Parts: sequence; C-alpha cells; structure tokens
Amino acid sequence: MPDHARPRSLTAARSGPLKGVARVPGDKSISHRALILGAMTVGETRISGLLEAEDVLNTARAMRALGGDLLRDGDGEWRVWGRGVGGLAEPEAALDFGNSGTGSRLVMGAVATTAMIAVFTGDESLQRRPMKRVLDPLTLFGAAYEAREGGLMPVTLTGASRPIAIEHEVAVASAQVKSALILAALNAPGRSRIVQRALTRDHTEKMLAAFGAKISVETLADGGEAIEITGEIDLKPASVAVPCDPSSAAFPLVAALIVPGSEITIPGVLLNPRRIGLIDTLTDMGADISISNERESGGERVGDLTARHSSLKGVDVPADRAPSMIDEYPILAIAAAFAEGKMTMHGLEELRVKESDRLAAIVAGLQANGVSVEETEGGMIVDGRGSVSGGGTVATHMDHRIAMSFLIMGLAAREPVTVDDVSMIATSFPGFEELMRELGAKI
Ligand code: S3P
Repeated sequence: MPDHARPRSLTAARSGPLKGVARVPGDKSISHRALILGAMTVGETRISGLLEAEDVLNTARAMRALGGDLLRDGDGEWRVWGRGVGGLAEPEAALDFGNSGTGSRLVMGAVATTAMIAVFTGDESLQRRPMKRVLDPLTLFGAAYEAREGGLMPVTLTGASRPIAIEHEVAVASAQVKSALILAALNAPGRSRIVQRALTRDHTEKMLAAFGAKISVETLADGGEAIEITGEIDLKPASVAVPCDPSSAAFPLVAALIVPGSEITIPGVLLNPRRIGLIDTLTDMGADISISNERESGGERVGDLTARHSSLKGVDVPADRAPSMIDEYPILAIAAAFAEGKMTMHGLEELRVKESDRLAAIVAGLQANGVSVEETEGGMIVDGRGSVSGGGTVATHMDHRIAMSFLIMGLAAREPVTVDDVSMIATSFPGFEELMRELGAKI
C-alpha cells in the first residue's frame, strides 16, 4: 500500500529562527525525463541525483513495464538500458502513475507512435485531471484512444502502427503536452514541428539534444517557439546529473523569509530561467535572496540560494510569468499573506487542473487561517497584513504542494496551522518534515 493510501494530519507551530543548510531532492521534471529517455535509448544511461519520490518511481515502474531495464545502484544513482526509439514493448498490465500528471502524460507521448495498446491509470486526483489536452494532439500522429467521459483516466491508448509527422500548435501553456508531442515525434518518420506561444520549461528539448536527437528550437516573431524534431533517429546514451528541484527549494526558501531571524542556504538548485519566476517575484517583493556559486551542470544552470528573513510587500505578478512558476503559487500565496499590501496574481487558470483545484484550495486554506483573499476569474488577490493569525485546518485535496505550503505558514503564524493529510508529500519531497525540523521548524 503506498504511503498516500493512509491519510495523516500534521500541525506546524510558530518556530524560532530557522538556520542551516537545506539539501532538497532532485528535480522532478528532469528525473521523469531522464528515466523515459534512458528507456528509449539503446546502451547505458547513467543518472545521478534522481528524485526517488513516488511520482518518479511510478515512471520507473512504467518504463520497466514498457521493456526498459532500470537498475538502482544507490541513493539517486540509477542506470537505464533502453530499447531504442520505437522499441518500447507492450505492457502486460495497466500502467499506474499514482498522483503524477507529468509521468502519465509524458509516457503517453512516448508510446503514441509505437504499435501497442497501453492502459494508463492513476489515483483519484489523477483520474480527475484532463487528458484530452495531450491525447487529442497525439491522434494527429495516428494514435487512437478511449477514455472515460471528458477524456479522463483510465485511458486506453493505441499507438500508431504507421506514425506520421505532425505540425501542431500547442493549445495550452503546458510543458507536459509539448513534451509528450516531442517524445511522440521521435518515432514518426520525417520532421515534426511543434509550436508553443508560452515559454514553458524546456528540459525535454535540452535533454534530447544531449542524447543526440535532431532537434532545433526557433524563436518566433511573437516570442513563441517552434520546435522541430526529426524522427526515427537513434538516441545516444548520456549521463544525467539531476540538479535540486527549485519547486521543492521554494518551501524552505519562503520559510526563511517569513520566520524572523532565519537564514537558510539551499545548495545546487536548478536555475533554468524558465523555472525561477518565484525567485524573481520574491525579489520584487523585497526578499533578501542571494545566489552564489552559479555554474553549469549537465546543460542546466545551477547555484546555491541563501534566503534571510525579510519584510515583504505585495506586488502585482504578471500573467506571463505564470509558466515559470506554475507550481509555486501555493507557496507564493503564503509569502503574500505575510507581506504588507495587496498581492495580485493573474493568469492562473491552469491551477484549476493541477493535483487539486489549487486556486480554490489556496483561497480556502488562507481564509481558514484568517487571511483576507479574493478569488478572481483567473487569479487571486491576497491582502497581506504583515502577519497571519493561523489556527485553521487546511484541506489538502491530495495535493502535496498545498500540504507543504500551509505547514510553512504555520511556522510563522500566531496560532498553529493543521493540514488534514500530509501523506501526499511523498510524491515529490520525501524527507520534507525531517529537513524542516532540522532547520528548527516545530512540525
Ligand atoms: C511539468 C510541467 C508543469 C508542472 C508540472 C511539471 C513538467 O505542468 O506543473 O509539475 O515536468 O513538464 P503543465 O505542463 O501541465 O503546465
């Protein structure tokens, strides 16, 4: 029985200064991609720093079921021997992705252009999340699918036996959809062209270039991008060093900003420009965050972050920043609650279809803890008063980031904050509780 089958509540109370070095786990997006590409490549792919959390382990299980050999050598150290582009094998049983939208959607792309039938399923949260956004464009390659009403899981995907290259503009600002199409294009003869208007995370493109794929990215006049991939090209195995996840670093980072007297350093954090919208926004709010030891690692920019307690002010966060911090709005809303003044966030429609309806979950959690917040059509306005009363219980709706965000709130609120279920934290950030306690958090 996975951990998240047993709900467990937890309370966080006002804490003294948080101090020390916070080592956060590997980046989730890069970890999924490393396993999937490894399983599509003949030869040995070596991975270090892999995030060994439930979401990624479900992807590992799926890639084994599809014929990859995946071996764990030690903490975060993995080796993968793949079957080659087009060489994935039909799985004998349904592929269960648990809570992971990323794992499931990327793997749909990987199988869509190989002749096989595969069933995709997941937990209650994943079964509520939209899959048509990825399945419909995959049919352009010649794949077919059946799904529950509304395009929901369980989904049966029939990969194209004679795939064709596509030209397609991605309709939603989603790296998952874009990446699924790129992975599908790998086994479609000829050149596929995938256009995105919003600049979402580009880990698939970067990693594919490192694996020797024929992929090019052109910047368009309107600021969008056209990605061209030539299919039926063999990938070459590569080594992937997974940097620390900025979306996980966000929790100790904001904790340091809101708990008086704190100073926390987080080493080796991925600083891909398409992932650091939170750092930019917090800096705009007056946060004392410094970046040191900036370097290049495995084709990605990384650096050490140091955050100190700061007086924050509310700012206006533009909609076009959303793709670079899409997973960080729950914790940003906590920072906003401790800031002085109104914080306006726009363009958050995608938050409605994450692990929970995050917009509704954030608003309800803030209100339960005495924060004045208004839910708008596509966003929210948090009326920060510099401090938070707390004392509420927050419904997490099977969403790891809601759980972690409100525990962080409890560390600086006047009264303790309880979250109804923390078991889902294991999907992205194993060791979160222990790490926060080591820094001085009363959880
Ligand atoms: C991810 C893309 C984002 C993000 C998710 C990880 C990825 O989702 O929210 O946590 O690894 O490609 P969308 O593609 O739905 O925006």
